Amino acid sequence: MGFTNSILVLTFAIAAYYYFTIEKPSPLSTVKIRTEKGWERVGEKFKELVAQGEIKGSSISIRHKGKEVVNIVGGYADKDSLHEWDFKTLSVMFSSSKIFGATVVLHMIEKNLLSLNDKIIKFWPEFGKNGKENTTVSDVLAHKACLFSLDKNYDPVDLIDNPGAVESVFEDQKPVCEIGKDVGYHTLTYGALLDIIVRRVDPNGRHLSEYFREEIAIPNDLDTFIGLPYEQNYRATRLGKMPRASLDLFKSCAAEYRTLAFNLLFTTDSHVIRSLKYPKLYFEDYSINNPEKRRAPDACCNGYSTASSMSKFLSLVQSGKILSPKMADQISKPLFRAFNLVLQQELSFSYGYYLIKIAGRDFYGHAGAGGQSLYADKENDLVFAYLSNYPTIFSRGDDPRFVELVKATYESFESFKK
Ligand SMILES: *[C@@H]1O[C@H](CO)[C@@H](O)[C@H](O)[C@H]1NC(C)=O
Repeated sequence: MGFTNSILVLTFAIAAYYYFTIEKPSPLSTVKIRTEKGWERVGEKFKELVAQGEIKGSSISIRHKGKEVVNIVGGYADKDSLHEWDFKTLSVMFSSSKIFGATVVLHMIEKNLLSLNDKIIKFWPEFGKNGKENTTVSDVLAHKACLFSLDKNYDPVDLIDNPGAVESVFEDQKPVCEIGKDVGYHTLTYGALLDIIVRRVDPNGRHLSEYFREEIAIPNDLDTFIGLPYEQNYRATRLGKMPRASLDLFKSCAAEYRTLAFNLLFTTDSHVIRSLKYPKLYFEDYSINNPEKRRAPDACCNGYSTASSMSKFLSLVQSGKILSPKMADQISKPLFRAFNLVLQQELSFSYGYYLIKIAGRDFYGHAGAGGQSLYADKENDLVFAYLSNYPTIFSRGDDPRFVELVKATYESFESFKK
């Protein structure tokens, strides 16, 4: 059998697999809509997407000039028990959690607890092994620490009471690229590194998740957690199965994603594949709905929130109320544009925040696996947060459900401005 035939057979097998295992549309549940006058188009679009079976469990929150103009929840938080998504429902943000982690570190920098140019060894001397002694706080924040793939596993839950077990993995690790120069998305290790920094620098020795709760979430009344406390599980969604890299990725992807898609499907030893190896926890299907594992206070990808609190957070950041107006302005602008070794694409980035275009407009923020999104349009002072427990393959602010809702928002916004 020739190479082309093998590919055809493989293609057919994967397509057949997805056809037969795909989730059938669920009985429609209610959509609860809160919109300000003039923004109704978003609610109509949301209902259309539910009716088409595109949305089975989701929430979107949109703020304009700080005010929540749209808050919609619909579908099931847990379909098996017919538990509907409501305004108190929390759901996993995946990598949108990363901007919460980065913002905590920027918050500490503004309090003069540390500076961007500080070397990590200043507060974590054991880190300075294997050529890592010059790594700075800025390198970690900007994905230039070259620790996106690891030789050893760790359990992110250990960050709570056994952080030494996590620290030693990073201490022993050799950097996988040129520190401070190469850029590679720290998909699964970003949160652990930031947590270790925060705990070692905070005068009270608090973890990132604790610092976030006490200094940012509680004072601003945010319903957001980095790591889900046991007692909050009753209102968290049950997450559906994560789609694997598949032909959907090819079907959907613009030319710039093809290298990534190819790497995910057909290589075993690329930066992309290696970056997804450890910690293993995040690729064990059982773990995501397990209250024990959900506790991991890991800002890589284990934050839980309502969409409403996510948009509130970014809106407060944007208006200079969590960070200074100067810092808020800085993170909304590109710090650099570079080829990302893991994402296999040239991307613009500031400290913790990606700058991208969605529906032809300039946004900054962070997407998460499965379609989760948290982005701001600074020019128009709009913030968008989207969560879904029915994950798709889209993880770059390009989830079609989200994009449709963004477009509907601008339809409202443009007619409203007139
Ligand atoms: C760290 O910086 C010092 C001073 O610039 C330099 O001499 C040393 O070689 C650097 N170490 C590494 C591993 O790059």
